[in-house]
Amino acid sequence: MSAFTHHIFVCCNQRSPEHARGCCNPDGSEQLRNAFKAEVKRRGLNPLVRANSAGCLDQCELGPTVVIYPQGIWYGNVQLEDVTRIIDETIVGGKVLDDLLIADELLNTKGGTIRTASCNDSSTETETK
Ligand code: FES
Repeated sequence: MSAFTHHIFVCCNQRSPEHARGCCNPDGSEQLRNAFKAEVKRRGLNPLVRANSAGCLDQCELGPTVVIYPQGIWYGNVQLEDVTRIIDETIVGGKVLDDLLIADELLNTKGGTIRTASCNDSSTETETK
């Protein structure tokens, strides 16, 4: 049996705003990781559910990136306002959120849609290739 029912890895990698791949933690605050940790604690889901900071998960263009193991659920463009929903629907309810899910064909491609808001202030999206 796994030590955890869900292990939530939140990319906290920080890069300069000029970096071509962007990053998931532009201001270095780790706000997203902290929000997951607080919500897990608030609901008493620990110790079976754990949220940790992670280095680059290599899905930078699709970030901020979160992966949940052992289920292997990859979420992209995760915002603070998504944390409660992820805990409610995925961690507690077992439902995969299609609007956040990174499609298998986009994993590890170093392409797809850049969420420029992750490292810049713009909310526009830019196709890469
Ligand atoms: S910087 Fe977050 S996945 Fe690479």
